Amino acid sequence: MTIAVTAVTGQLGGAIAEALIAMNTGETIIGLARSPAKAKELGIEIRPGDYDDAGQLRASLAGVDTLLLVSGMAAPEDRIGQHRNVINAAKAAGVKKIVYTSVQGAEQGTAFSPIIRSNRQTEADIRDSGLDWVIGRNGIYIEPDVEYIDSYRKAGEIANCAGDGRCGYTTRPELAFAYARMLTGSDHNGRTYNLHGGLLTQSELADYLNKAFGSELVYRPMSFEDFKADRIAELGEFIGTVIAGIYQGIREGASDRPSDFEAAAGRPHQSWDDYFSSI
Ligand SMILES: NC(=O)c1ccc[n+]([C@@H]2O[C@H](COP(=O)([O-])OP(=O)(O)OC[C@H]3O[C@@H](n4cnc5c(N)ncnc54)[C@H](OP(=O)(O)O)[C@@H]3O)[C@@H](O)[C@H]2O)c1
Repeated sequence: MTIAVTAVTGQLGGAIAEALIAMNTGETIIGLARSPAKAKELGIEIRPGDYDDAGQLRASLAGVDTLLLVSGMAAPEDRIGQHRNVINAAKAAGVKKIVYTSVQGAEQGTAFSPIIRSNRQTEADIRDSGLDWVIGRNGIYIEPDVEYIDSYRKAGEIANCAGDGRCGYTTRPELAFAYARMLTGSDHNGRTYNLHGGLLTQSELADYLNKAFGSELVYRPMSFEDFKADRIAELGEFIGTVIAGIYQGIREGASDRPSDFEAAAGRPHQSWDDYFSSI
């Protein structure tokens, strides 16, 4: 069997390819990349895979049985069509199963909701494709908070609009392990999984960072409007609004869901005690 992973130059796609290689179940693993020259030394075949190029995708999916589609980064209105290019190319090329990395969040009422709705549309397109499918709805990556530690330390605080909301965080390596299982086992077909570890409030996240880095961060809740203005000033209109919308959703409970990680991965998610003692 041949498994292809899209966006293999990205952190999640690269980690999934690595997890498949490490699992060593005898399948041939292929990477697809919009920028093949950026693909790191995975030791696997890399083929071109730009979500905007339907013909290229179809050619690159020749001989592929199972496809892992990493959700794109484009604006929501463009993303649906990009993902349809991949799904249609997969059908035309004879792919039998698609596994999609979707996301958790509120479908209405937050600044992140347009992205959630675009991912839900891709989920529907995949369910309607006639192919076998598995959908993972990823929790929020915890790594960006760890990478942000110097900025948090300078500010002495974590400040955002999540309030006391609990968030199902995860890590890319944990997701990659679960996706490798979802790609290689047929018992997951037709399932939609919420993929995250233990739920954390922002205060609990600050406590974990303090323990790991010896910092003295406190959590300060902000209004959505103030946080959005702050994020747009640093990150620009599109990403700033998306980030503010993610924390707005956390405050409203959109990331406080039961996790299906163990069903997908065949083992529990890494605990936050373990994770923070290993960084
Ligand atoms: N759960 C979360 O907290 C969270 C946070 C951020 C993002 N996400 C989602 O998770 C996905 C993967 O995250 P990541 O950490 O791997 O992001 P990343 O490291 O930034 O990688 C993004 C990948 O998407 C590829 N890509 C972008 N546009 C493409 C296109 N038109 N055609 C083909 N490939 C394209 C990029 O290719 P190039 O190398 O050519 O740029 C890159 O490989 C993101 O795309 C986003 O949808 C989730």
